[in-house]
Amino acid sequence: MLGARAQGGWRALRRCASLPRAVRLRVREALGAREAADAVRVQGWVRSVRSQKEVLFLHINDGSSLEHLQVVANPSLENRDLTFGSAVEVQGKLVKSPHRKQNMELQAETIRVVGPCDIWSFPLKMKERHPLEYVRQFPHLRCRNNTLGSLLRIRSEATAAIHSFFQDNGYVHIHTPIITSNDCEGAGELFQIETSSEVREPAEKTHFFNVPAFLTVSGQLHLEVMAGAFTHVFTFGPTFRAENSQSRRHLAEFYMVEAELSFTENLQDIMQVMEDLFKTVTSTVLSKCPHDVELFHKYVAPAQKTKDRLEQILKNKFVTISYSEAVEILKQASQTFTFKPEWGCDLQTEHEKYLVKHCGEIPVFVINYPYDLKPFYMRDNEDGPQHTVAAVDLLVPGIGELCGGSLREERLPFLESRLQRLGLTDAYQWYLDLRKFGSVPHGGFGMGFERYLQYILGVDNIKDVIPFPRFSHSCLL
Ligand code: 4AD
Ligand code: MG
Repeated sequence: MLGARAQGGWRALRRCASLPRAVRLRVREALGAREAADAVRVQGWVRSVRSQKEVLFLHINDGSSLEHLQVVANPSLENRDLTFGSAVEVQGKLVKSPHRKQNMELQAETIRVVGPCDIWSFPLKMKERHPLEYVRQFPHLRCRNNTLGSLLRIRSEATAAIHSFFQDNGYVHIHTPIITSNDCEGAGELFQIETSSEVREPAEKTHFFNVPAFLTVSGQLHLEVMAGAFTHVFTFGPTFRAENSQSRRHLAEFYMVEAELSFTENLQDIMQVMEDLFKTVTSTVLSKCPHDVELFHKYVAPAQKTKDRLEQILKNKFVTISYSEAVEILKQASQTFTFKPEWGCDLQTEHEKYLVKHCGEIPVFVINYPYDLKPFYMRDNEDGPQHTVAAVDLLVPGIGELCGGSLREERLPFLESRLQRLGLTDAYQWYLDLRKFGSVPHGGFGMGFERYLQYILGVDNIKDVIPFPRFSHSCLL
């Protein structure tokens, strides 16, 4: 049938000296077209080539959708450079496809190979489902693989959904600095910045920035400045932690979404924003990228039944327990932990995962942590002498901590004495100023974007949800 369809038209068209300039369509637009169109041009990379006696089939993809566009062509248009992986420009007629599985297909009139691809040395192979561990070795090429293509489209949609969520709710977006002199979390997990001449000549004691400078671990303190004028602010940018951890949920460079709300006295209000953000962004991603998300739920994490679980989670309210309750639950657990649970000790990942399981594999807020475990900026609950602070962590199945937040200590005397005990008074004079000039109760939180993607997609290793895996064997990246 296709052979007959191809014959006359193609021959006649190739006799024409020049074709009319065709309308350029993305693959996604071509696939979604309602009507046939005579002169269409599509550019992309060949995902499969199948040559039959009477017809040549190609699948091309330009990153705009998971689905490829089928191109049908006369075999005379085939040439040695037209291989899997090559970059092509195809011009022809967009027609309804006779195949049930696709809406439209492109009947090629011309095929131009823009960039050939040597299939023998190209590490991706036609029709192979490469494991994530395999494609991780090729950080410069893995975006041409279906799974990474889907991930990157989801990442892009989720980014837009996060911005929309905050903009729609009246928050002002702030670009907080990447180079800073503060260690917001006080954990000392900092990457220090020095110029190359400072590294070469360590004896020279002049700093480029006059003070030691670091890559930011969090934009929170800068957001707090802005929350003193705008009431609702957010930031969403790269953050850096020098945690010496090769775990499946830690990165040296990751993206964090952070929000800060003024005139907020109640930790529940912060938790409500966390929950709304999670649910709104997830619903948007599920509805805007159904096929991309399905690929993960079907092939990457099928055992986890991620889709059903997510839909359940979106319908129900997240659970809240206090840190003290959490420690009691852990103490009564039949499971033995590597780190013995004890009031006053940090919850380890093994504890967080157990708590989530105990609560029915759903997201769980843990609130009111011991005062000494948390950074200087968290608000004293005054439930005993420096006993607990108004902190909250959101724990999710399979990952552990997804978000961390708190009410901030807005009372000058409390903050002053805490900073003094820590020997930080001089460094944080400017922060104390915020409590002198129109201080208001406020609070906020941060959500790790990669951990969020890991969770909703059921991805085991955090390195598989970033565009470029760091320090892979390709030192170029
Ligand atoms: O809990 P964290 O350290 O909180 C803060 O930095 C606050 N200043 C945020 C705020 O209140 N504005 O980090 C927030 C989240 C964590 O819950 C986790 O999801 C993620 O950031 N995160 C990491 N993600 C990947 N790799 C790492 N090394 C991470 N460290 C933290
Ligand atoms: Mg935390």
